[in-house]
Formats: sequence, structure tokens, C-alpha cells
Amino acid sequence: MIEVKNIHFWYPDGTNALCDVSLEIQDGEFIALIGQNGSGKTTFAKCIAGILKPTKGEILIDGKNLKNFRRKEIAEKIGYVFQNPDHQLFSNTCEKEISSGPRNLKLPLKEIKRRVEIASEIAGVDRKLFNKHPFFLSKGLRQRVAIASILSMQPKAIIVDEPTTGQDFKQSISVMEFLKKLNQQKHTILIITHEMHIVAKYAKRVVLFKDGKILQDASTKEVFEKRDSLAKARVKPPQITIFSRRVLNKTFLTCEEFLVKRKLEVRSQKLENPPLYSPLLKKGGNRGDYKN
Ligand SMILES: Nc1ncnc2c1ncn2[C@@H]1O[C@H](COP(=O)(O)OP(=O)(O)OP(=O)(O)O)[C@@H](O)[C@H]1O
Ligand SMILES: [Mg+2]
Repeated sequence: MIEVKNIHFWYPDGTNALCDVSLEIQDGEFIALIGQNGSGKTTFAKCIAGILKPTKGEILIDGKNLKNFRRKEIAEKIGYVFQNPDHQLFSNTCEKEISSGPRNLKLPLKEIKRRVEIASEIAGVDRKLFNKHPFFLSKGLRQRVAIASILSMQPKAIIVDEPTTGQDFKQSISVMEFLKKLNQQKHTILIITHEMHIVAKYAKRVVLFKDGKILQDASTKEVFEKRDSLAKARVKPPQITIFSRRVLNKTFLTCEEFLVKRKLEVRSQKLENPPLYSPLLKKGGNRGDYKN
């Protein structure tokens, strides 16, 4: 469990990036941190991962103050994949980079190899790249190496700062599906993203940041239903959510959910015989919840 208690963070130039932020994260949650550029998401994640120290307030991991953890201990509890992979990569080959965490943990050679293979496969890093210098790869590939190097540590909680940025659709889905699988295996997952269809599909809980504070913290559905908070934070829900609110006055997060639930409704409605899109036909059926 991660307990964040009233943390504040000022950068040395005087920027107040976090202002009295508190949050409890239970083991096994899948949370998305969202909010406009500069709202404090990355600063918050770096504080939890022990990369930045809050100027005020405290963070407890499984009841122990983060201040009292050694670096190695934190790495076993929380892995943070940087928003910019170039801030994370330091080895001169991809293989060294991906194996650096397990090597630091002094795991047996066989286990190190096993973890490197699993992590590389999941993150989409081909073996052919193992001897290449990460800096000669494309940004998308460098991001995958960065993800693999955190996955190889198998930390209890994983924070991925913008996991799908710079990735093509197939790779984005494969990274997200893997995070989902880790979550099913009881890992806590935090993603930071501007891609609301990813949030809608994978996150169970959403924490909405604005100006260094938490504006909303609720289930994904509840957050996407509160158009006032979203508008304040300049976040636009997925198209299907906007559509279903306006046309049906219901909240569907994904097209899959929409299709499955509507199909069920069609079946039950057949008995009573109203048309499928009756709200469209009625005056006032378009309730205009979202004016985006
Ligand atoms: N190294 C730094 N020095 C000074 N100010 C910083 C630094 N890094 C971030 N900031 C500022 O702190 C505030 C929070 O930034 P942060 O990077 O945490 O936001 P974010 O929500 O992750 O934004 P984005 O969506 O653009 O990644 C912003 O005002 C930003 O300009
Ligand atoms: Mg950021």
C-alpha cells in the first residue's frame, strides 16, 4: 500500500509543482493519473518512486516512510518508467540496460537471463537489438528498452509515464495488455497518459490533477461523467463516452462496452418493441451533456 500524506513540492527555481496532495493506493489497483500539461503528474510519480523528495509531507510504502528506504529496496517495491526514455537509459548496450536492475539485485545469472528474455519479449525489444547502443535506436524503441529495464526488476508497483507516446497502435496495445496482465497478477499499476481511450479501456480508477492538486479521484466512469471537473482540467473524454452521454444519456467507456450492452438491451427491448435509438427520435433526446 502506498500512502501519500499532504505532500508539497517546489523545484529549485521556485515552481510549486505539488500543493498538499494526499492519496492512498491499495495493492493491486490500476490507476491512471491524468490532467493537462504541467499539472504535476510526473512530479507526483517521481516523488512516489523516490526520485524526488517532497519538500513537505510524507510517503509511506507498506507502512514504512520512504525516507528510510535504501535505493535498492525502493526499486523492488516501485519501478518508474520515465516520460523521456533518454533520462533513464545509461548503458552502452540494450542487453546491459535491461539486465542492470536484476544485476544490481545480485540475482543468479540464470534468473537474470530469464528476466531479460521475458521483459524484452513483452516490451517488444528484439534480441537482434541486444548488442546495439540504445541511443542509436528510434525514440519508440528506446522507450521499449526503458520499459523492459523496469519490467526485468519485477517491482510490486509499476508507474509508466506516458506508456504509449511515440508507439504505434500495435505496440501501444501490447504494452497496455502486458500491464493489464501484470495487474491481474496483483501488481499495482499507475499510468500517466493524455490518451483517454487508453484510460477508459484499462484504468479502474482515475486521479485528475490540476495545478499541482488533485481535482478528482474516483472510478473511471465517475470521472468521465463529471464534465465540469474535466472541462476545468481541459480533459476530453473518449468520443464514445461523449456520444453515449449525448445520445443515450448513459456512460459507455469503450466501443466494446457500448456494443455489448446495447446488444443486450436490443434483445430485451424487442419484447417491448421500442426502437434502438429512441432518444434520437424524441424531442429533447439529445441531452447535450458534453458540448465538446
Ligand atoms: N526540473 C524542473 N524545474 C522546474 N520546474 C519544473 C521542472 N520539471 C517540471 N517543472 C514544472 O513543474 C510543474 C509540474 O510539472 P510536471 O512535469 O510534473 O507536469 P505533468 O503533469 O507531468 O506535465 P506533462 O503532461 O506535460 O508531462 C510544471 O509547472 C512544470 O513546468
Ligand atoms: Mg509529465
